[in-house]
Amino acid sequence: MMTDWEQRYRGNDTPWDKGSAHPALGQWLAVNAGQMTGEVLVPGCGSGHDVRAIAAAEPAARVVGLDIAPAAVALARRHAAVAGETFRQGDLFDLAHDLRGRFAWVWEHTCFCAIDIERRDEYVQAVWQALVPGGHLLGVFYLDPYRGDHRPGGGPPHGCSLAELADRFERNGRFRVVEQHVPPATYEGREGCERLILMERLPASP
Ligand SMILES: C[S@@+](CC[C@H](N)C(=O)[O-])C[C@H]1O[C@@H](n2cnc3c(N)ncnc32)[C@H](O)[C@@H]1O
Repeated sequence: MMTDWEQRYRGNDTPWDKGSAHPALGQWLAVNAGQMTGEVLVPGCGSGHDVRAIAAAEPAARVVGLDIAPAAVALARRHAAVAGETFRQGDLFDLAHDLRGRFAWVWEHTCFCAIDIERRDEYVQAVWQALVPGGHLLGVFYLDPYRGDHRPGGGPPHGCSLAELADRFERNGRFRVVEQHVPPATYEGREGCERLILMERLPASP
């Protein structure tokens, strides 16, 4: 069943929103200070905790949060701005022209696992389209949200395997995995379920 994201935000039914940025993001930004600079896109940004964390850690970065749900964008905009970050309402699968070929970085967190599984190749293409050649996708990917259990209704979040990620992102030479590991920090309850993956966007056309 398709998720009505707008309805979920309007109904305050947003269990994914932990009220703070993903702990692995804060840790990565601290260890890699000065790297996530230039234009940064956060697709499926929700209420924008990760956007604000990046903007706070890298004030020179121009961070854009994108979300399909107007209520999420309104929520994000209600927070005090930390460093000129902006929020846009829009569909990642129909990327506005001014967002194409623009970003040095994309930060992924619970957008890939939220979209329909059948649209994953479109996600890969959209992120490829948003990035400049040589740009980077850094993401915390939810591999096994139910710890091997079947979930009634089947998600989201939708899990995935490392092999599937490698196939979808590296196939056709769109991305190259630079490094990946289990994030040392995460939200309570997600321990061991995720992978932090850094990929480079390659020049080949998808
Ligand atoms: C599970 S929520 C995660 C939100 C945020 N990353 C967080 O961790 O709080 C998934 C988000 O993706 C957004 N989303 C789903 N499909 C989208 C699309 N096609 N384009 C942009 N945003 C989308 C939803 O509105 C929702 O805010």
